[in-house]
Amino acid sequence: MRIFSSIPETSAALRDLRTSGQAAPHSVGFVPTMGALHAGHRSLLQAARQRCDVVAASIFVNPTQFAPNEDFSRYPRTLEADCRMLEAEGVDLVFTPTAEIMYPPGAATWVEVEGVSERLDGASRPGHFRGVATVVAKLFHIVQPDFAFFGQKDAVQVAVLQKMVRDLDLPVELVVCPIVREPDGLALSSRNRYLSAQERPQALILSRALQAAAALAERGEHHAVALLAAMREILQEEPTVRVDYVAVVDPATLLPVETIPAGALLAVAAYVGSTRLIDNVLLKRTDG
Ligand code: PAJ
Repeated sequence: MRIFSSIPETSAALRDLRTSGQAAPHSVGFVPTMGALHAGHRSLLQAARQRCDVVAASIFVNPTQFAPNEDFSRYPRTLEADCRMLEAEGVDLVFTPTAEIMYPPGAATWVEVEGVSERLDGASRPGHFRGVATVVAKLFHIVQPDFAFFGQKDAVQVAVLQKMVRDLDLPVELVVCPIVREPDGLALSSRNRYLSAQERPQALILSRALQAAAALAERGEHHAVALLAAMREILQEEPTVRVDYVAVVDPATLLPVETIPAGALLAVAAYVGSTRLIDNVLLKRTDG
């Protein structure tokens, strides 16, 4: 596994990997991350390894997607352990740039995906998805992947990036992988390590609320209001958890739906202590 922080070295190494050896050109799969890797990230690496000839990953805690009051400076940085996981999963190349490399002084160009970027997490975190779209567009240009792997865990991020790829005709296919959970249902997240021993069981209320609403939908409840009410009722059982949003939306536009069409997205964001957690479930169509 080769590790680079420079853009020209990364591009050159990827050019070699893509074109050398038998059966070239080889397909390139890319897994962008902010490090602090866990089994959720591992599932993306494995999907990429399965599907592509060459696997590239990036580790970059992207400053432009954090608001000044957010956790950029204390975001976990575990580069050595991360590299061990990447190596064990058969990654060929890791790009670990510095902020100065990604944003040289005077950088002034942004990718803004209007509409979806302002909904759900985008409403709570203004500017967040501008930072995400900009860095992912830059990473796509550097790595030039055929396939890029993202987690359904960040459903709004997926909607924003799908739209960016379409709107800018980027020659990459996004592959969305299912949410990996702890055995008790908590969605894996790098931010789970902020939770205290007391908060950890409280955090389960997010997945419990989603599961209950999904079960209702499976039993034939088609109305979004009923599902929202069921989720809110369960979330109230944990009075220390502060709900940011609960929503039943179209997964592509993120606009609210009134009845459950195919693939409606049930999503929740809530503060457990000072830690903001998100989770979601993609509902199946229930009316045949
Ligand atoms: P990060 O939070 O490190 O996540 C990297 C990828 O792992 C994302 O696609 C995310 O959806 C996926 N992921 C996280 N937890 C997961 C889980 N429990 N199950 C499945 N997949 C999971 O998302 C980012 O970084 C950044 O915004 C980035 C795209 C790298 C741009 O900076």
